[in-house]
This record gives sequence, structure tokens and C-alpha cells, in this order.
Amino acid sequence: EALRLWGGRFEGGPDQALARLSLSTHFDWRLARHDIAGSRAHARALHRAGLLTPEELDRMIEGLDLLEADVASGAFTPVLEDEDVHTALERGFIERVGAELGGRLRAGRSRNDQIATLVRMYLREEARALAAGLLDLVGALADQAAAHPGAAMPGRTHLQHAQPVLLAHHLMAHAWPLVRDIERLRDWDRRAAVSAYGSGALAGSSLGLDPEAVAAELGFPASAENSIDGTASRDVVAEFAFVTAMVGVDLSRLSEEVILWATKEFSFVTLDDAFSTGSSIMPQKKNPDVAELARGKAGRLVGDLAGLLTTLKGLPLAYNRDLQEDKEPVFDAVDTLHLLLPAMTGMVATMTFHTGRMAELAPQGFSLATDIAEWLVRERVPFRDAHEIAGTCVRVCEERGIDLPGLSDEDFARISPHLTPAVREVLTVEGSLASRAGRGGTAPVRVAEQLDRLRAAIDEN
Ligand code: ARG
Repeated sequence: EALRLWGGRFEGGPDQALARLSLSTHFDWRLARHDIAGSRAHARALHRAGLLTPEELDRMIEGLDLLEADVASGAFTPVLEDEDVHTALERGFIERVGAELGGRLRAGRSRNDQIATLVRMYLREEARALAAGLLDLVGALADQAAAHPGAAMPGRTHLQHAQPVLLAHHLMAHAWPLVRDIERLRDWDRRAAVSAYGSGALAGSSLGLDPEAVAAELGFPASAENSIDGTASRDVVAEFAFVTAMVGVDLSRLSEEVILWATKEFSFVTLDDAFSTGSSIMPQKKNPDVAELARGKAGRLVGDLAGLLTTLKGLPLAYNRDLQEDKEPVFDAVDTLHLLLPAMTGMVATMTFHTGRMAELAPQGFSLATDIAEWLVRERVPFRDAHEIAGTCVRVCEERGIDLPGLSDEDFARISPHLTPAVREVLTVEGSLASRAGRGGTAPVRVAEQLDRLRAAIDEN
């Protein structure tokens, strides 16, 4: 039988069309556990305010425990007439403790301060779970970097060969943004750790409740400074959606490279069979679907953020029903990343790198030209001239169809008297890599230190 939380001033029930439009239990039911935790804390606040006898409080807590067990076992679920998770749980509560006691729980509380608090409880929990998943992926990247300490590859800008880099350096360039995403989740939590309980519908409570005590019981270090802000703001939800969108973009950029690397033309990696798919018509195909789905789902995660921000734009204070639309985008983001992160981690962990092929390509495309120019600078040649001289070397090579190390001592001398045979020390990939020994550079010593710091960051997080 329908139990609306707002029947009093209405003559009949809502039209079917409105009831269907209004319904949110199909997505907000995942907040049931948090709603019950909130109810427990709220019952204690009512008791402390002198509005419940100790005996009534005990019966309430018992009823909530029973309800929680039935929710967990699936014995209690919402019915079509329950408008939202709060309505359903109030019905379940009253079924367990009776209408007299059950009807006392809602005093001094509104679904507006409830939902604003519950979504934070839920997202804070999920933020920790997602951080753990991200950490696994960072760990897999670090392991691959550690497994290939000396392997060189063509470093690219504009997707063109630019300068040789270490594979480990490149892999860690994908790991650090993910470390920052983990840090973002942690920073976000400081702002999210505010309970809206006590805000009531918008103006606060008149019943002498203690919002700080409720907050503490629910794991929040503070309650809202402003009851209107507490019930109306969703910037914390949007910021969460930004972080998940950023994670999506970071995964997508890594994925795009994996997709390229797995092509015949690159042949830099082979994906493990367990993380590849086949074609229903082409027997030879082995497709990088994990990476493609990650790239695709980045669009979805960005869409979750864009949709939420658009919902919030232009909403007057305080609560508006539009705010019910804040949940599905972040729930979708959470679900999407819970699917994606383990698959990405598995794909990265099991990827085979063809380091011979990568090393062979590393010096091609005249990627050592900058090394000539910088060697000249160390010989006190002004960089403008050095750039010009190195450029001439490239032009001569192109004319002859050779690569930079193919130039003879005489060629070098003819191009510039500054180009003594000693320049050859930087005309190997190893020499080039070793020379980039400044902090953050791709020299093997620096990359080894970097890996230590990445491992330390993993341990810290
Ligand atoms: N289900 C709503 C939400 O998700 C909370 C209910 C507030 N409803 C209301 N009529 N004030 O935002």
C-alpha cells in the first residue's frame, strides 16, 4: 500500500505519469545502507534533544538493525509505489516498529538534507575504492617500467619521431597523471567531508538537534556551515565527476597509444590473449578492445560531468527537484571505472613489449639532431648557429638517403669546423639518453630514481 511522505494537503494520489517520472528507487536504492546509518545517527540526535525516551531510541535502533539486515539479504526491497529510497525505507521502518514510533523518526529531518548527506557518504566510500583500483594500475605501469630498465623507444611530438626516450620513462609518464588523480580524490574528500544533516529542508532545525554529533557518527569531521548551502550545493558531486572524467581521459590517452603500438606498422607490443578479442569473420584478427572501450568510455565519463554541470547551471537556491538528477551521472561514472580499471590493469600487466623493434626505430627520423645541436652548445657554439648546423646535417643525410651516424668525419668538417669527430659520442641512442641527465630527464640514472619515487608515491597512497 502506497505510503507517501507528503499526503496531507493532497486530495488524491499523483497521476501515473508523474509517479513514473518521479521515481528514483531504481538508482538511489544503492544509498539504502547509508540512509539507514543516517537514520541511526538522527535517532540518537532526537534522543539527545529529549524527543525520544531511551526505550524508544532502543526500539528504533533495533528496528533499523532489522531493516538493514532485510535490505542486505534482499528480503526488503522498494515497491513501485515508493517514490525514492527514503520513502521505501520509512515504509520498511514503520512495518517493523509500528506507525507510532516509526512516525517519530522524520522529525527535524528532510529528504533534502538527507540526500545531500547520503550522496557524500556514498561517493567518499567509492572514492577510496577507485583510488585503490587506480593504484593497481599505477603499480602495473611501474612493474612494466622496472622490467624494461634500458629499453629505448622513439619519443614523439606531433606523433613524429622527436628524440629517443626510455620505454620506462614513457610508461611512467602515463603513471604520474594517475597518481595525481588519486591525489585529486583525496583532496576532494576534504571538501566532501561535510554533513548536511541538520539543514532540514533548507533553513535548519528548530528541534535542538546536534548536527556536529550526527556528522561525527557518520564519519564527517564537520557539518554544514550554512543550511541552504548544505541542501542546495552539488559542487562536491560535480568535482567528483570531474575527477572521474579526468581519469577517463588519462586512461584514454594511454589506450590510444596501446592501440597504435599494437598495429602491424608499430609492432611495439603484443597484447595477451586474455586481454584481446577476435573477429567473427577474420580469423587472424586480435583486437585491442580493452583499450578501445577505455577510449570510448572516456566520452561517457566526460558526458556524465557535462550533463551534471548543465543540470546545476541556473538552479536557484535552495533545493530543486532537478537535483535528483545529480546521482545517475556519478553512479554511472563509478560503475564505469569499476569495470574499466581492472581490465586496464590486466592489459598493462600482461603486455609484451618488442624492445628490439622499439630500439631499432629509436634513432630513426633524425631523432639525434637535437643531440648534435646541444653537443655544439656545450662546445660554446651559440644555439641559433648550432640549430642551423645540425639542420644542415639532416639535409645532407636526406639528400644521400643516409642517417646521421652515416656522415663521415669529412662530411662533418665540411658542414662546420665545430663538428669534430668527438660529436659521435652523442650520435648513438645510448649516448643521447645518457646525456639527458637533468632532473626529470630520460637518462637511465634519472629514470631509475624516478621509479623509486613512483614506488614511494604508491606506498604513500
Ligand atoms: N529523491 C530526491 C533527490 O534525489 C530527494 C527528495 C527530495 N524531494 C523533495 N520533494 N524535496 O534529490
